[in-house]
Amino acid sequence: LPHLSSLLPPGREPPRMSPVVEPLSWMLGTWLSEPPGAGTFPTLQPFRYLEEAHISHVGQPVLNFSFSAFHPDTHKPMHRECGFIRLEPDTNKVAFVSAQNTGIVEVEEGEVNGQELCIASHSIARISFAKEPHVEQITRKFRLNSEGKLEQTVSMATTTQPLTQHLHVTYRKV
Ligand code: HEM
Repeated sequence: LPHLSSLLPPGREPPRMSPVVEPLSWMLGTWLSEPPGAGTFPTLQPFRYLEEAHISHVGQPVLNFSFSAFHPDTHKPMHRECGFIRLEPDTNKVAFVSAQNTGIVEVEEGEVNGQELCIASHSIARISFAKEPHVEQITRKFRLNSEGKLEQTVSMATTTQPLTQHLHVTYRKV
């Protein structure tokens, strides 16, 4: 079976980027956590994780993303999510749509300002048999730091805890 991406027009690698997503072009690439990401939450022991982030486009006015986390020692797969990032044309308004392996599907909205993207959950859906506590709110900040590294900070509120940081990770472009 041919890989589906072989159905994209040939001879243009990568496809020409839509000007609509240009304000988010600093996010494009394959990125690897370095140092390992740091997980926190009032109910959890602090933990570390490895994560690969892949952010790409196929010429549409949309970015495609996947984040795949792994245990830092055993490399056992952990949290995974993938989805799309859309920009409202001619504004700095951003929508982030993500499906997660934990059975959550969420939409976040916010703004890009320079090399910083701040978004907050607009809606969160979950499978009927999701484990408690349920996540009720999510906020994220992505930024390109002065060393050219991508950073992601995720905070969440659950049914038992107010909005608190859950993740911070710095990625090196690979
Ligand atoms: C626990 C949500 C991303 C690792 C949790 C809990 C929630 C949650 C609701 C339970 C907290 C509690 O028991 O009070 C989320 C959301 C994420 C996310 C909404 C993305 C937006 C990640 C990532 C990792 C991770 C990227 C990296 C490995 C963990 C671990 C625990 C945990 C190790 C504790 C053990 C467990 O419940 O599996 N997360 N998480 N999470 N999360 Fe996340």
